[in-house]
Amino acid sequence: MKVVVIGGTGLIGSKLVEKLNEHGHEAVPAAPNTGVNTLTGEGLAEVLQGASVVVDVSNSPSFEDDAVMEFFRTSTTNLLKAETEAGVTHHVALSVVGTERLQESGYFRAKQAQEELIKASGIPYSIVHATQFFEFMKSIAAAATDGDTVRLAPIKIQPVYSDDVAAAVGRTAVGTPVNGVVEVAGPDTFQLDELIRKGLAAKNDPRTVVTDPHAPYFGAELKENTLLPGPDARIAETRFADWLAQQK
Ligand SMILES: NC(=O)c1ccc[n+]([C@@H]2O[C@H](COP(=O)([O-])OP(=O)(O)OC[C@H]3O[C@@H](n4cnc5c(N)ncnc54)[C@H](OP(=O)(O)O)[C@@H]3O)[C@@H](O)[C@H]2O)c1
Repeated sequence: MKVVVIGGTGLIGSKLVEKLNEHGHEAVPAAPNTGVNTLTGEGLAEVLQGASVVVDVSNSPSFEDDAVMEFFRTSTTNLLKAETEAGVTHHVALSVVGTERLQESGYFRAKQAQEELIKASGIPYSIVHATQFFEFMKSIAAAATDGDTVRLAPIKIQPVYSDDVAAAVGRTAVGTPVNGVVEVAGPDTFQLDELIRKGLAAKNDPRTVVTDPHAPYFGAELKENTLLPGPDARIAETRFADWLAQQK
């Protein structure tokens, strides 16, 4: 089965391409440096020829409110149009657990717009909602940093290994479209401020984590459970502590 992976050179995309090929599928990575650009439409019609499934794991180069909205609106619109013309029968996209509850944030408004375009496209689809990747903890700390202070709310987070996300997206891509959302999360729940505090201390990072219940998360104020999945989420195997122990 030919599966085109939009964003196939990224963190999730490169792992996904490898896993699909290992399972005997023809996975084709599509990104600007393979000659496919969903913003301009360059290379799209060509790469989609003969494809049954398209997986979109691309991401916006900028998280600034207008730029990220422009990215997901334009790229998704171009992609879905090209898929309709090519006769693609399953569109899979990776989004984030709780997107619908995070609408104070420009990034999540853009992800919501992406999801709505997919639902209205008429193409059978599956949306995978993942929690935050283990690799993303650094970016959470960076986004919350002001000088030497990292301001974070004492909310719950259930991060997941990117490898496990790629596996879940792969299984979804070769399965029947669910025409809805499936969730995937890691096996352990942490309190965000404590997790980052310990992580920074372990690396002798000089920043201090300040617990602030009103500290925004990428522009949105969160309730304790906003980032947690529902009871039907697929729970991935890899534990954060085991992953961390293997990082250099
Ligand atoms: N980070 C998290 O914790 C998290 C959690 C849940 C879900 N997600 C979702 O997971 C998805 C993938 O994230 P990631 O971290 O794997 O992304 P990433 O590593 O930043 O990779 C993004 C990919 O998108 C490609 N891309 C950028 N502009 C493009 C364009 N105009 N046309 C085609 N491809 C383009 C990039 O190609 P180049 O390298 O050539 O620019 C790259 O292959 C995102 O949609 C995100 O919302 C993330």
